[in-house]
Amino acid sequence: MKIILIANPKGGSGKSTLAAHIAGYWAWQGERVMLGDLDRQHSAKRWLALRPDRYPTITGWEVKDGEPAKPPKETTAAVLDSPAGLHGKRLEAALKVSNRILVPVQPAAFDMWASADFFRLLAEEKAVRKGQVEVAVVGMRVNPRTQAAKQLDAFLREFDLPVLTQIRDTQLYVQLQPRGLTLFDLPKPRFERDYAQWAPILNWLK
Ligand SMILES: Nc1ncnc2c1ncn2[C@@H]1O[C@H](COP(=O)(O)OP(=O)(O)OP(=O)(O)O)[C@@H](O)[C@H]1O
Ligand SMILES: [Mg+2]
Repeated sequence: MKIILIANPKGGSGKSTLAAHIAGYWAWQGERVMLGDLDRQHSAKRWLALRPDRYPTITGWEVKDGEPAKPPKETTAAVLDSPAGLHGKRLEAALKVSNRILVPVQPAAFDMWASADFFRLLAEEKAVRKGQVEVAVVGMRVNPRTQAAKQLDAFLREFDLPVLTQIRDTQLYVQLQPRGLTLFDLPKPRFERDYAQWAPILNWLK
């Protein structure tokens, strides 16, 4: 079973957006997907409640804060959204059930500083050191023509971590939220550019 944890210490870095999208993608792939939400704000859970029945099914995964258990056996893929500042025992518990962790980072100094701390923290985690959990990074809300994008690029190069892609800053993701949808529920030809930005993440997920 594939289980991916989405985490970053910084609030608003794009965790829930990434979590919902990965669940949506897997659902289209025919996986039996569960989406769990460790955040008390319940963004992922609320988003899922709005998802129309006619789209590929994502099932809610009830996870207890601090002790996420394995999802039911029939599940083939699961996504775990997490709150800002996940650390210590709660991070350890989430890593214990996951085999991958994806970290969204926005091109801004506050986000990069917090992410640097988090990368160091992750590197010390037993599950990561032992290679039981694979770590990757995604640039989120990146406008490639900005200085900030260049700074993010330089910053991420300092770490020995795969940087999969850069997702652009677009209202598309904001508009999809209240509809319970993802980019993958939209016609591909109209959103070619965005699909292309997701492709490296989807490849990594295989
Ligand atoms: N690529 C993007 N372009 C534009 N807006 C985005 C993008 N990604 C996320 N957002 C928006 O940024 C806001 C924060 O994203 P999201 O809720 O996914 O972050 P989060 O890390 O889960 O936040 P929190 O720490 O509060 O749980 C949301 O309103 C979301 O729609
Ligand atoms: Mg969130």
